[in-house]
Order: sequence, then C-alpha cells, then structure tokens
Amino acid sequence: MKFQFGKKTKPGRNELCPCGSGLKYKKCCSGKKEVISDFESIRTLYYRKHKIRLKKAEDIEGIRAAGRLVLVSLDLAEAAVRPGITTDELNSLVHEFTIKNGATPAPLNYRGFPKSICTSVNEVICHGIPGERVLKDGDIINIDVTSILKGYYADANKTFFVGTPGPDAEKIVRVSKESMNIGISMVKPGNTVGDIGWAIQKYAEGQGCSVVREFVGHGVGFEFHEAPQVPHYGKKGDGIAMVPGMVFTIEPMINLGSSDLYVLKDKWTAVTKDGSLSAQFEQTLLVTENGVESLTPYN
Ligand code: MF3
Ligand code: CO
Ligand code: CO
Repeated sequence: MKFQFGKKTKPGRNELCPCGSGLKYKKCCSGKKEVISDFESIRTLYYRKHKIRLKKAEDIEGIRAAGRLVLVSLDLAEAAVRPGITTDELNSLVHEFTIKNGATPAPLNYRGFPKSICTSVNEVICHGIPGERVLKDGDIINIDVTSILKGYYADANKTFFVGTPGPDAEKIVRVSKESMNIGISMVKPGNTVGDIGWAIQKYAEGQGCSVVREFVGHGVGFEFHEAPQVPHYGKKGDGIAMVPGMVFTIEPMINLGSSDLYVLKDKWTAVTKDGSLSAQFEQTLLVTENGVESLTPYN
C-alpha cells in the first residue's frame, strides 16, 4: 500500500487516557509503564492507541482459509507463466478461479483499480495493471493476489522468471525473496515494527540493492489495508511493539539500481526511475505467543 503520514498516536496530556480509565492522560498512564497483559485489554489498547485490530482465533482461521486460496491462485498463475502469454490472460485465470471458489478478488474496483490481480513486469515495482503486454523470455513478473473469503482478506505475492533468467534477474529475485524472509524472521512479540524494516534495509543495501520507500506492508484481515504501516527500511527499536494477534504483510520492493520511482499516467503502475529491475515477495503474517506464523506460507 502507499505510505501515508499518520496523525499523532500519542494522546495529548489533557486528552482521555487510552487505557480506558476515563481519566485525563496526564492523571493516568502518562509516564507509567503499561502493565496490561490480558488479550482483551491489549486489543482495546492497540485499537485506541494505534487503530490496530488484533485478530481472535476465529478471525485467524478465516484469514488462513483465504490465504490457502491465494496460494493456490499463485500456483495456478505460475504454471501459466511462459513467453507469449499476456498479463490479462493471467488476470482472467486467477479471476475465474477466485470466483469459482466463492471468493472475491480484492483489487477489482479497489480505489478504481480495474483488474483482479497486479502484474508487475521487470522495471515495474508494483500495481502493474494486467493488459495486452506479452511476456518474453528473460522477463521477471510479480503476481500479487489478494482474496476475500467469507469477509476475510489474505494478501501475498511472488516474482517469477519467464523462460530463462539472466544474472540481473537472478540477483534481484534472490535478494527480494531473502529480504522478505529476513523481515519475517524479526516477527515476534516484543520486537517492534521498525525492527523488520531495519533488518531488511541492512541486508538489501548490503547486497548493493535499494529499498522502495513509497510503498509499505500493512495490517490486513478485516480489510485490504489496515494499521499499522510496515516500512521495509528504518531504525532498530522504532515503531509499535508487536503483540500476539497482530496480522500484517511484509512485502519489500527491492530495486537493482536506485530506489527512485514514478507512477505512470494510469495512476497505478509504479516504475523505477532508472529503468532497473525491481522484484517483490509478500506474505500475510500472524504474530503468535512464540514468534510468527505465516497465513500464506510458502518457501
Ligand atoms: N496487493 C497490494 C498490496 O500488497 C495492493 C494492491 S492495491 C490494487 O498491498 F488496487 F492495486 F490492487
Ligand atoms: Co499487501
Ligand atoms: Co499484495
């Protein structure tokens, strides 16, 4: 999703305390270390403070089921990727499969997006619109699928080789996939959202690649894009502390050249300014008591 500046999340001294006491913040929790530890209290607190909607067991089961459908859709699309196919044909395949399984493709008509998946080829960073473009040998294509099943959203993407990749394609796909995996490895209660971006940025830039700033991971499950935003760059210890029940995506967009981008006249397609290759991988993750569980797991 597109990065947006937020309103301040810390209450003013004369505002109501977010703990729900009914007292002014300055007369209550300001200065205190919060000691709240039961799920319902944390759920209320995280919504009041951060607008983050923590998920209960039944919600998680619903998102997991949507996630299974997303993964089968990605497999279906992958099997069809070959030189000569158009991105619109890939869109139709996933669209029909999604509908047939009683689900809805979340991108279709989302803020005016005209298709059911995103297809981002080569220098396209994200939000490529399926159309007449014909894939050719040596291309890379990211396919991003979000399905709504019984009201629950799951969001995942992968980048595929078309035919035989060259060395640049091999490198950017390897680095972007490892970036996602390193991000996932930071997910556990007590770590912060900033730790994820810090680890990704350190790795990707260490490989001589760059991290896109304008698009971020996001809370997901009840809606397509929920709080929090999850940047793929940043400082260790910054941002909100992760707690069990948080569900969000990690979806680093990594460029072979500069991180600068522009958006085409279609208002969606984001491309690298220098024309260099860009790749991305995405999963929907759940923070558990012990660490992390992917609700769209793949290797
Ligand atoms: N699936 C994308 C994401 O990972 C969002 C696509 S928005 C759309 O957040 F409208 F382009 F579909
Ligand atoms: Co996403
Ligand atoms: Co996505």
